[in-house]
Amino acid sequence: MTQSSAGNNAAQAELWNGEMGRKWALEQDSLDAMLAPLGLGGIAKANFAPGENVIDIGCGCGTTSLAIAEKVGSGGRVLGVDISEPMLEQARRRAAALDNATFNLADASVHKFAPASANVIFSRFGVMFFADPTAAFANIRTVLKPDGRLCLVVWRPVRENPWVMKSLMIAAKHVVMPAPLGPEEPGPFSFGDPARVTRILEGAGFKNVKLEPQDLLITIGAGRDLNGAVDFLLGIGPIRMILAEQTPELREKVSQEVKQSLAADFGPQGLRMGTATWIVTATNR
Ligand SMILES: C[S@@+](CC[C@H](N)C(=O)[O-])C[C@H]1O[C@@H](n2cnc3c(N)ncnc32)[C@H](O)[C@@H]1O
Repeated sequence: MTQSSAGNNAAQAELWNGEMGRKWALEQDSLDAMLAPLGLGGIAKANFAPGENVIDIGCGCGTTSLAIAEKVGSGGRVLGVDISEPMLEQARRRAAALDNATFNLADASVHKFAPASANVIFSRFGVMFFADPTAAFANIRTVLKPDGRLCLVVWRPVRENPWVMKSLMIAAKHVVMPAPLGPEEPGPFSFGDPARVTRILEGAGFKNVKLEPQDLLITIGAGRDLNGAVDFLLGIGPIRMILAEQTPELREKVSQEVKQSLAADFGPQGLRMGTATWIVTATNR
């Protein structure tokens, strides 16, 4: 990394540079097919204009950065920032032909951005992992022009997300579940509480913070049959880590039960499950 991670983000850097980051890079097509509709909602809300300069926080394999590069055109530019080398490698490969998209390996919470240089800060699921989110967003805000804006897509609480909840509830019948993360701990669902998100962003100096719910069905493991789609589902998200610690027999038992239970969600479009996200917007001043 060009810049070291802020102490407490080191664990996240290790995670996203280890098996998790490699898995996201490897499964990029399937994850993109699954997450695309959710990101498109945010991209529409951000209302990018040709010529704008955009920062994509936690850009991962670069999918949203590429979509934004198209929106801002050759007169604009997008900088993707991420702590994961394997995911950025993928992003750089995909953007090789573009001259308006670049990627930095950096911890967004401490990275020294060019001050007051960006019109928009955007992120699809890349901002929920900061150890100190208020300090991280105060640092990220420094990149915004005075009239700049922020647009984030983040998960609502896990209990509102059937695509995660259904298999977790089946697993809970068979295995000892880990204690849930505390409300201030980083994790995929840590921006679920609107009061917390507002407190973090206002604490970082943003104004006009708004959260709008987005409820959409997504396709899990696109192109796979039910068994393949459930295997994909059980290999991502919180359930993956829980099952990794179980015996092969127990993993198989949970997997079979999830397959039976989700058969009703499988149709001509594949395994379709409900998601609940917030589209968060704010302004710099
Ligand atoms: C759930 S993935 C989302 C990736 C991508 N935005 C997408 O939607 O496909 C979360 C991303 O946030 C990145 N991330 C986590 N902590 C970060 C930090 N402190 N600075 C920059 N990126 C971070 C991870 O490396 C990972 O790529």
